[in-house]
Amino acid sequence: MTILGLHHITLVSSNAQRTVDFYTRVLGLRLVKQTVNFDDPGSYHLYFGDETGKPGTAITFFEWANAPQGKPGIGGTHHVALTVNDYNGLLKWKRRLTDLRMTVTGPLDRNYFKSLYFRDPDGVILEIATRTPGFTVDESADKLGTQILNPPEAMEIANRDRAAIEAAIWGEPVPEITPEMALVDGMHHISAISSNLDRTNAFYSDVLGMQLVKRTKNFDDPDSAHWYWGVGEGKPGTLITYFEHNPARARRAQMGVGQTHHFALAVPNAESQLEWREKLLQAGYRVSPVRDRIYFKSIYTNDPDGHIVELATVDPGFALDEPIAELGTHLMLPPWLEQSRSVIEGALTPITP
Ligand SMILES: [Fe+2]
Ligand SMILES: [Fe+2]
Repeated sequence: MTILGLHHITLVSSNAQRTVDFYTRVLGLRLVKQTVNFDDPGSYHLYFGDETGKPGTAITFFEWANAPQGKPGIGGTHHVALTVNDYNGLLKWKRRLTDLRMTVTGPLDRNYFKSLYFRDPDGVILEIATRTPGFTVDESADKLGTQILNPPEAMEIANRDRAAIEAAIWGEPVPEITPEMALVDGMHHISAISSNLDRTNAFYSDVLGMQLVKRTKNFDDPDSAHWYWGVGEGKPGTLITYFEHNPARARRAQMGVGQTHHFALAVPNAESQLEWREKLLQAGYRVSPVRDRIYFKSIYTNDPDGHIVELATVDPGFALDEPIAELGTHLMLPPWLEQSRSVIEGALTPITP
């Protein structure tokens, strides 16, 4: 029984076409599946990822055109980070996004990686983070997570060299996404919000068996804690992190546009998923029955603050019902909705991939 890493994140979009344009044309991801929310077939479910949308690269959206704007908070997600290979790639992203008139913050040195921050058209906070140097920069591999570490002073919000951060940008325009910039390795981490990190740690470490790889402070709010869990030494693509907010002062998350609906961790197969289901039930967590999501099988539970956390199988993947070359080009429906295709299509605004 192993959690392999991140599988996908599902966010809420107010406009499917605008989301397609942003994630494909601006960020260079591939639309790998156009389908509907199986639990609400009147709305799109769009999947973006690498060439095949392999687990860890999948960023997905429900389109809720009339939903209120969501807000981050306890029991919700704060942001999602994508992996870029190196610092030059990060500087090129800053140039490309800035030239597109987007507001970009960074590059900020997060000690374990360097990061840029910006928002998608619905206000989702996105980060691009470098693969290195990783979590052994301030603790040895066999001691990860065993101590509470302070950020280096120069990296804390009050002490940053703002002029140097602003000046750090690639010198030439970046009209095309070069191979070194490509976000094909998918997610780096997902950061959520907890009211009690010890309790969150019990869920990820004790129940899910993930490695607590770092206990530090929020570099942007050094009065609050920031902990990281992952696989191995905290490989990008396996990382889930939580900021701790004091429940007496902080609000709860509000689901809606620009917010995460849920995120999923990857499990190897249906057999191990059933074992996880039993383990979660025995640990006192509420868990859904296994749901057939066609491209994977899923169970749903909640973190201790109520955030929906899914465990999804790696197989069979998105090439199940379309050739790889045609992924994302047609509206695909599961067999049980195929008989309602004309009604479903009639209710959706067609999108141009
Ligand atoms: Fe982050
Ligand atoms: Fe999901």
